[in-house]
Amino acid sequence: MSRFHEPQHPDFHRLNASIGFDRRLWPQDVAQSRAHARMLGDRGILSGPDTDALLAGLDAVEAELSEDRFAFAPDDEDIHMAIERRLTEIAGPVGGRLHTARSRNDQVVTDLAMYTRERAAETQTAIVVLMAVLLERAEEHLDWPMPGYTHLQRAQPVYLGHHLLAYFWMLARDRSRFAFAERECGRLPLGAGALAGVNFDTDRSQVAHALDFSEVLPNSIDAVSGRDFILDYLGAAATCSTHLSRLGAELVLWSSTEFGFCELPDAWSSGSSIMPQKKNPDAAELLRAKAPRVVGHLAAFHGVLHALPLTYNKDLQEDKEHLFDVVDTLELTLAAATGMIAGVSFDRARMSDAAADEMIAATDVADLLVRLGMPFREAHGVVAGLVRTAVDSGKTLSELTQQELQVNSGLLAAHRSEFEQVLARSSWLESKVSEGGTSLERVREQVELARTALHEGARA
Ligand code: ARG
Repeated sequence: MSRFHEPQHPDFHRLNASIGFDRRLWPQDVAQSRAHARMLGDRGILSGPDTDALLAGLDAVEAELSEDRFAFAPDDEDIHMAIERRLTEIAGPVGGRLHTARSRNDQVVTDLAMYTRERAAETQTAIVVLMAVLLERAEEHLDWPMPGYTHLQRAQPVYLGHHLLAYFWMLARDRSRFAFAERECGRLPLGAGALAGVNFDTDRSQVAHALDFSEVLPNSIDAVSGRDFILDYLGAAATCSTHLSRLGAELVLWSSTEFGFCELPDAWSSGSSIMPQKKNPDAAELLRAKAPRVVGHLAAFHGVLHALPLTYNKDLQEDKEHLFDVVDTLELTLAAATGMIAGVSFDRARMSDAAADEMIAATDVADLLVRLGMPFREAHGVVAGLVRTAVDSGKTLSELTQQELQVNSGLLAAHRSEFEQVLARSSWLESKVSEGGTSLERVREQVELARTALHEGARA
């Protein structure tokens, strides 16, 4: 029987059905149905034979799904109805007893909490793998000088190891955000029924224990309405993909002929359909371009939840495509970043030549004046004058005559040999001795911290 006289409009059916995308929740749906049926049996809400029949039927349905021979029917609106329909075909009318003391409202959010928890754990593993590769490559290139940039203008030299480790730390924080998201999925919604609880004396703690939730959500209204654990995952993903986009952008720049700092592995590059000489950094470009898509899903799902009255509304079905696309996109881009960083080769000579541009030691010359007693702001002006003299006369700083030095600063002219020492290449890097700076000793210290952080990551 149905309360309706007319069938659904085909376009409404298409609009309403989620089976096209929520079928990936079948493992979670089967697992929770099993735990639910066992609990109903243990509480005497279902008879022993009925419980056994349901469990056997669920095994059969699971086998069809996992072997990819489950026949979806045109009327299956979502994965929950499809599984119940098939269970009833296999086990007979007892299949209809599975939904005792359960609503699709608490069912769907439970599946999602299980799914999101699993993906949040997997994402942490993928991040730790990328962190390990970054650390390894940083150690290999610990003392390779390169220019550091601000405004994409050569600013101060740094070691490549130091630059690579910057990404390591971004990812370490991303990992913590996913660990938080994983914990937020740890409270069981099931048992809330449609919204108010159910008319049976169920044991939610038993179900929580069986499904590895640490506790039950204490409010049935919150349980069926809440999707903030999805926002937490999406938020972590948005930040992580934004980090990957910055890595991608640098790989695109660095692999250009203009920079010539690195060559990307063939396995992560494409050719051109017309220009035979081209090796295009498509994967790095896509790291750059996928981030706004992830951020877009986060913003869109905030929009879905915004001002949404409690409790369940069909709007909530929109959580899935945003979540699933983010999971797929992030997992793929993390794999691409890992592959590119593992295989990229750097050009030591190109990088150190670019870092040998004396102009990037201007701050160091100013600091020499500071050590000789001049206030920094004044020293900044003196060196700016020196740079202008050099640029105007087409010379490097060390090529300036004693006379030209004297015009800009008598103090500097009197300390010509210290001035020349400051301009000797390695000193620009090795003078950055402050904690977290680029001097080799500090970078080595950082490598140790990174090793510790990595192991913490692997344990979590
Ligand atoms: N397919 C639905 C969703 O994804 C399942 C819950 C349906 N609940 C309902 N009251 N119509 O949200």
